[in-house]
Order: sequence, then C-alpha cells, then structure tokens
Amino acid sequence: MVERKKVFIGAAWPYANGPLHLGHIAGCLLPADIYARYCRLMGYDTLFVSGSDMHGTPIMVTADRLGLTPEEVAEKNHASILKTIEDLGISYDLYTKTHTEHHFQVVQEIFLGLLEKGWIDRKTDVAPYCPVCGKFMPDRYIEGTCPFCKFGEARGDQCDGCGKVLDASELLLPRCRICGSSPEFRETEHFYLLLSKLEPMVREFVDLRKDEWRTNTRNNTENFLREGLRDRAITRDLTWGVPIPLEGFEDKRIYVWFEAVCGYLSASKLHSKIVQRPGLWEDYWKDPECRHYYFLAKDNIPFHTIIWPAILAGYGGLNLPYDIPSNEFLQWDGSQFSKSRGHGITVNDFLEDYPVDPLRFYLSLNMPEKGDSNFDLGEFVQKNNTELLGALGNYLHRVVTFIKNNFGEVPRRGELTPDDVKMLTTAEELYRSALSSMEKVRLKEGITILMSLVNEGNRYFNGQAPWKLIKEDMQRCSTVLNVALSVGKIIMYGMYPYIPHAAARWFAMMGTTGPEDNEWNEALVPFREGMKLGMPSPLFSRLEVDTAKEEQTSNGAVKTVETENKKEEENVEQISFEEFMKLDLRVGTILSVEDHPNADRLYVLKVDIGEEEPRTLVAGLKRFYKKEEMQGKSTIIAANLKPANMRGVVSNGMLLAAESNEVVGLLTVDPDRELPPGSKIH
Ligand code: MF3
Ligand code: ZN
Repeated sequence: MVERKKVFIGAAWPYANGPLHLGHIAGCLLPADIYARYCRLMGYDTLFVSGSDMHGTPIMVTADRLGLTPEEVAEKNHASILKTIEDLGISYDLYTKTHTEHHFQVVQEIFLGLLEKGWIDRKTDVAPYCPVCGKFMPDRYIEGTCPFCKFGEARGDQCDGCGKVLDASELLLPRCRICGSSPEFRETEHFYLLLSKLEPMVREFVDLRKDEWRTNTRNNTENFLREGLRDRAITRDLTWGVPIPLEGFEDKRIYVWFEAVCGYLSASKLHSKIVQRPGLWEDYWKDPECRHYYFLAKDNIPFHTIIWPAILAGYGGLNLPYDIPSNEFLQWDGSQFSKSRGHGITVNDFLEDYPVDPLRFYLSLNMPEKGDSNFDLGEFVQKNNTELLGALGNYLHRVVTFIKNNFGEVPRRGELTPDDVKMLTTAEELYRSALSSMEKVRLKEGITILMSLVNEGNRYFNGQAPWKLIKEDMQRCSTVLNVALSVGKIIMYGMYPYIPHAAARWFAMMGTTGPEDNEWNEALVPFREGMKLGMPSPLFSRLEVDTAKEEQTSNGAVKTVETENKKEEENVEQISFEEFMKLDLRVGTILSVEDHPNADRLYVLKVDIGEEEPRTLVAGLKRFYKKEEMQGKSTIIAANLKPANMRGVVSNGMLLAAESNEVVGLLTVDPDRELPPGSKIH
C-alpha cells in the first residue's frame, strides 16, 4: 500500500481581543481552509488546527478599560470568533484556545526541555516597577514624555506622537498608567531564549526551505537574519499568561509569542485526546514525511520562520515548517484593517447582510497573495453578479434545468463529436492545472483557472444550442447535455475548496453526496446515466449595494457601511395612475461631473432642471460612465425625492438609468426635439 501523503496545516491564532475582521479571513483563515479542503480532496492525511491567542498585554488593556478580567474579555471574543469560523465554514479539525490547562502543560514541557538543554538561560535586568501598585509594569502601562518629540502621552513601548519605538527607561517624567505615580526601576530576573546559540540551526533550516517560499516570506526572514539573532526575553512580569513551571517565579508569565506558537503542537495533542487516539499527533509531528504549512499575515512571518523553528529545533525530535504562505494585508477603504483601531468591518456584521460563499469567492479572487489588496463592496457585489451568478451559477442552472425539464435524469451520452471531445479534454486539463496551482498554494491562480473553465463551458453550451437540438436531434441533444453536465461536475469538484456550501448544495441537487475525501478523481467520472435529478434551484442570487452610510464612533476611527442584500424582486407591485403621477420626472441637463470626495464609486453632479439653481445629485455611475460621457447629456431626473445624505453630500433627486447584466445606460430624450431642461415627463 502506498503511504498517504501527510499534511499539517496551522492558521495563525487570532488574538481574542475583538471579533474577526475580513482582513484575518483573507489573510489566513480562508487560504488555510481552502488548502485543507484541497488536501482532503486529494486524499492527504490532513490535520488542520488553530485557536484563540488569549494572552498578551493588549487583552489586559482592554479588560482594564471595560472593567472586566482578561479571561472574561478573551472568552467573550473567543465565542464570537468561534461563531465566525462556523459561519464561514472553516473546516478546522480543532479550534481551541491558549488559556487551558492542557496548553499550559505542553508549553511548560517545551520550556523545561529547552532549559534543560541549555537553550534558555536566566538574566537579571532592570524594569519599571510601580511602588504604589506594588508590581512591575509592562511597557504599555508606563506613560511619559517622549524624549524625541516631547509628546506628553508616549507609551513605554512606543510614542504615538512620532512613532518611534521606545524603552520605558527612556521616557521623561514617567508615570504609572494605573495610579499616576512615578515608577522606580528595579531588578528583575527573566528567562531568555538563546537565539544567538540557536542561530546556526535556524539558518540551516531557512536555507534548506526558503527557495520555495513566497518572496515576502523569504525577504522578511532574510532581513531578520541579516542583523544576526539576539537572545530574547521569553518571560514577563505579569500575572495573565502561562505560568513558569519553576519556584520563585509565581509573579511572572511566559511571553505570549513564545507560548502562542507552541499552540500548534498543543492543539494537535488535544485533538488526539478528543478523538481518543493518544499517539495520533506523532503521525504529524514525528514522521519527517509530514509537511507543515503555516498560513499567516506578513506581520507574523519572523515568529513562524525563525522563533518557532528555533524552539522546535532546540527542543528536538519534532517537524519544522515546510511552507509558510504569508499574505500581505487586505485593505479596507485604502488602509489596514485593525482590531485595535477599530477600522474595517467585522465578519459577523458582513455575514448578516451577505451570504457566505460570495464572500469566500470574492476573497479568493482578491486574496492579498502577492501585494496588498483592497476590499471594495461595489466590486464584491459586481463579482457576485457577473461571475459567481452570471457565469458559474448561470452555467450550472441552465444545464441542470434544461436536463430536468426535458429528461428528468442524467441524459445518455452517445457518440462524441470533436467539439465534445475538445470540451471534455479542456475541462480535464484545466481541472488538473487548477489542482496543481492549489498544491503550490497559489489559490488565486487556482480559482482563476476554474473560472476560465466556466467560460469554456458557457461557450460550448451556447455553440451547441441544445434548445435547437431538442427539436431536431434528440440523441445529439442528449449527448451535448451529458457532456455539459460532466463539465459542471468537474467545475464543482474544483470549486469545492473555495465555495464548499454551494458545492454541497449542488451535489445534493444532483442526488449525490458532495466531494468526499480522496475523491478528486471522481470529478472525471460522469454522473451515472439515468440517475434522477433533484429539483434545481439557483445556487446564487443577485446582490445589491444600497446607500452607503458613514458612521463615526467616539474614537472617530470606525467606518461601517450599511448594506442591504436583496434578492431580485420577481413580482412587481402594481400602482395606480395617480400614484405614478406623484413622481415628478423632468428633463435635466448635466452641467458638471465631479468625483465624490469620500466615496470611490460616486459622482457628484450639477444638473439643470429648469430651476433657478442647478440641483446637486449624487450618482453611483462611476463604474459605468466617464465624466466627459455624461457632461452635457439631457437625461431624466426624479425631482421630488426627499434629499438623501450620501456619504456627506446631500443629493436632491435621482438620475434614471437602465441596467442589464452590469451594462448601464442613462435615459435620454429624443435629441431631435430639443426639449429644454425642466420639461415634465408624463
Ligand atoms: N495572535 C497573533 C496575531 O494575531 C498571531 C499568533 S500566531 C501563533 O498577530 F502562532 F503564534 F499563535
Ligand atoms: Zn501604579
């Protein structure tokens, strides 16, 4: 028997200091999930874990601010993160957390192992101590005047005035953030990870693997190594965190980064316990053939390419990372998502307005794999409507409803024409090529290839025109539909890692189960002829962006976008003539077109509608019209709508335009008649 390929997949552990933002999803949870689903589809023996990172000072600061304990803060956010993970369909084998007895034990074991082997040592240092509070203060808890820019509220680790990184001892007039008294600098003993001694092992590991890493992973790691590794304190004067397993250190804890990375191992061991196979974790951590993949955002690179490998190498006997696919940032409105600054949108909020697979689809196409990318709501809606619904959904729906209505079951495949053979070969080739992109963790490339297969499928279907064949040549029609359906099956196997919910629904509709582990090959086997089809129903729906509203919270940093998700209205309500006449429609001449100062997709227009002053209108037409194309046009305006504030500009009316499949055209008046602005429409 051939050994199955083994894979361990870890996704960076989010801080339990707030809900998950779209940035976390695009940067690590989603790519890790797509990869894990791909691996299972390929039949690899896969373990996929992560958890909430519950320690560290930011959580303590939040707890102080809210008057809660750090544990309460962490637990509350952990619950919210768990919900997001579930809603997104992230298929972890285990999602745990760092504040557990189990994790403590695993970390302490590693700590003691390193100590025993001489990779950890004690050193005495001076640190700020508040005599009133009676404890050492983390750098963030010390405030004072910045020695460089004289900003009065610089923190012990950094000055927000000039951005410089500081040491608490450098602050002028330092004071305790809790009680305001001035700290003393006292001696305190800490443990250091001797990275200077571990350096040769780390270098050897990096040199062995780096050529296959993404450029950002490699460059970032090489920069870090260039200066040479310095020993790092791995304990802190805190009481929130993993205890140090030695007497005399009761008031200290293990540094959050040291213990969080150990979570990958502790989670694997916990998983073994839960599934009641105590030695299972060793399959992944001790078999040198098992490849370890870590998915993370770029700010986490050195912790995974240097610190964690150093810990593993020093401890000995455990697998080091294989690939560390790191992503750039996903931006929101042009700047970074940030939990601490409250910038961006939470996933829970987003999923209240929009379904999950369109989000997974858009983020997959727009993954910040090589450079930062931007989350744009208009683009999200557009990709959903044109690609997910318009191309993929439409293809599957056309094929399946046509079969259902005319055959009711999987139609027979007769003799294949060269066109059929070409279609099937192309499908297989593109499928294999998408899989090979996924294997290399080029996930954006993978989905792009699959979408090109969708286009091929649509072209084939249109070219063969089964709606004509059904009247002329039933056998040929049956074959074409069989081929088209087989292509649909291949597409949905390939799409499964990206949009698993839609894929499962589609396979259920086909009367089969969705892609199971180790079934990638099954994609190429046509559905059984004569198999009855279930009731087809659309997999995707049209989405819309409604009025975008900007909201400022107390700290002035949060932007939320109010959105509404509407299914296409099928039944149009009838109104009376009187009701219709309430609408004041008039001819308006567009005098000028400007960019909206706060919104990327909006124009601000001045329109002459025969009144003394031109009206100001805000219109979402930027994606469809150039400024010069609109200028001077006589168009139709709804003139008696209530004024609407659209991102800070008040709009007094509405332009009318026709739309079909993302093509938009303004309504105009017969130009031969030279109707003046303000002419009434009835
Ligand atoms: N909590 C860290 C962050 O959000 C990531 C920790 S990754 C781990 O930046 F591997 F260390 F857990
Ligand atoms: Zn104090």
